[in-house]
Amino acid sequence: MLTNTDNLSIVLYPHPTLRKPTILIESIDDNIVQIAHKMLDIMRQAPGIGLAAPQVGLPLRMFVANTTGEIKDDLVYINPVLTNPTTDSVTFEEGCLSFPGIYAHIMRPTGITITALDLNGNEFTQSSNDILARIWQHETDHLNATLFIDRFTQTDKLANRRLLKTLEDNYSL
Ligand code: CO
Repeated sequence: MLTNTDNLSIVLYPHPTLRKPTILIESIDDNIVQIAHKMLDIMRQAPGIGLAAPQVGLPLRMFVANTTGEIKDDLVYINPVLTNPTTDSVTFEEGCLSFPGIYAHIMRPTGITITALDLNGNEFTQSSNDILARIWQHETDHLNATLFIDRFTQTDKLANRRLLKTLEDNYSL
């Protein structure tokens, strides 16, 4: 089924697509390319550094990233697979475009490797011990219906309880 990319926008927690299983992208057709470019636009506008397809209401295994905001640094990851996480972990403050105003320090492996397809259908592998490693893990979590709130410490759960409740209350409006 074709997705009209004009209508795509960021969905906020607790939108049900954020908790839905995602499907592998079997062919990178024009519509997938359009969706990826629209996701990059939406991410840049937000602004954000990573955006997964479930966050625009699409249960697809794809995310986009950009750590500088410059178009030349746009990154698209289709059917990503993470491997070789480092044994050491680090905490880093994360936000999420589906959780406006909510930030928390999340513990994750420092470095990791990703293998994915680009928009031309070519497989590529990258490793990072930096911000990209963080983005890859946060966004791949989205593809597995895991949200950063699932990784909050007890303290962060308490600190953000009211903001989360506000998002939940606003959702049904
Ligand atoms: Co997110």
